[in-house]
Amino acid sequence: MIIRQYNPATDKDSCHRVWREVGWVDGSDKDKDMLNIHLDAASAHVAAIDDAVETLVTTMPATVRHLDHTLPMCAVTAVTTSHIARKQGLARRVTVRAIAEDAANGAAVAGLGMFEQGFYNTLGFGTQAYNNTITFDPAQLKINRRARMPQRLTLDDAAAIHQALHDRMPIHGAVNIEPVGFIESELKWAGSNLLALGYRDGPDGALTHFFMGNAKGEHGPYRIYLIAYQTWDQFMELLALIKNLGDQVRLVRMTEPPMIQMQDLLIQPFRFRQLTRKSDFANINTATAYIQLRINDMAACMAATHLPGAESVRFNLTVDDPIVQFLPDDAEWRGAGGAYIITLGPDSAAERGSDPSLPTLEASIGAFTRLWMGVKPASGLAVTDQLSGPPDLIAALDRVLRLPQPSVEWWF
Ligand SMILES: CC(C)(COP(=O)(O)OP(=O)(O)OC[C@H]1O[C@@H](n2cnc3c(N)ncnc32)[C@H](O)[C@@H]1OP(=O)(O)O)[C@@H](O)C(=O)NCCC(=O)NCCS
Repeated sequence: MIIRQYNPATDKDSCHRVWREVGWVDGSDKDKDMLNIHLDAASAHVAAIDDAVETLVTTMPATVRHLDHTLPMCAVTAVTTSHIARKQGLARRVTVRAIAEDAANGAAVAGLGMFEQGFYNTLGFGTQAYNNTITFDPAQLKINRRARMPQRLTLDDAAAIHQALHDRMPIHGAVNIEPVGFIESELKWAGSNLLALGYRDGPDGALTHFFMGNAKGEHGPYRIYLIAYQTWDQFMELLALIKNLGDQVRLVRMTEPPMIQMQDLLIQPFRFRQLTRKSDFANINTATAYIQLRINDMAACMAATHLPGAESVRFNLTVDDPIVQFLPDDAEWRGAGGAYIITLGPDSAAERGSDPSLPTLEASIGAFTRLWMGVKPASGLAVTDQLSGPPDLIAALDRVLRLPQPSVEWWF
């Protein structure tokens, strides 16, 4: 068994077999094309046994926003092991290698969508904020405006969709994936179920606002998993467009934008929740946190942190980074663990070392990442995660780190 870079000349078929075995693709040419587009856009690492890929991990360059600043991020876009190679430690080893390489190349943060809580925590990832998935009958939307006739978006519009996502209204925690191939593979994957509608109101007809998802079945449910807009007026036009589908479609499922309370826009949410109970068209909202992030470069992350308010807090931070035990001996990047002096405030910083006159916070890198992103305040994380410190320090962190709810908004 060897762990190495993906080789497009020899590995395509066995990579496709891995994804077929995990159930992410079928044997169709469409799905093979989708995986090939994804692989071409990604940095891919594999574990191979007898020259056949049995574990495939892909990452893509991305950015993550912390308030008004963006940081380079490694987006872990796929972690998969074939049926024969499970529980050999391959997924973990290949993932660690991929993250270590991207971190050495400047990815200050790493992020992923987890399959379950726990596995990536062993690599220092911390769970991010809940996202609300809302399901509603589009006819129930309370919108007093009409939508103009939109344009249909297809695979040919991948670059425009990608650019519109990058130009979307900026929010804390937002992730942007750099390679356009990510969107191309998503469009390919959706195939004939693709539902993608938008408006080109920008200079030279640039796409300004759109939504994209899956339209399955005559009456739905439809799933909208990407939405982008630059103004609230554009957002309301997209909702009006969704409402237009309501003569036929009985249910739409989408992630609630973090600054909006969708219940405000529904006519009788409780009536419909009761009437649709236990049905395929149940109007029920769920909250789940399935994105995880970890800080790779403490100094870069703190330098990009500019908190509102005048107060600063300065403390020693002792960080435990569990990824270290899995790093290859020759990895240049050695994790983010160790002792730091941290300043958090309008201008923040991390220096290596400790100052005996300062209070000390002890945290896993995952818990500290959650604190830094504003997932939960220090006082809450001290109860449920690996984070502890003297009460005065915890109280000061609660005061200084008052951040809006983070949301990646671009699911990967
Ligand atoms: C998830 C997946 C990649 C793991 O592959 P793998 O090569 O078997 O994983 P590894 O051998 O590196 O790690 C498995 C270990 O993690 C442990 N583990 C699994 N889930 C865990 C969890 N939620 N919390 C803690 N540990 C967990 C296992 O118990 C196992 O430990 P053991 O060997 O001591 O029993 C594989 O099951 C898969 O391809 N699943 C389908 C695709 C998928 O969901 N991918 C993840 C996308 S985020």
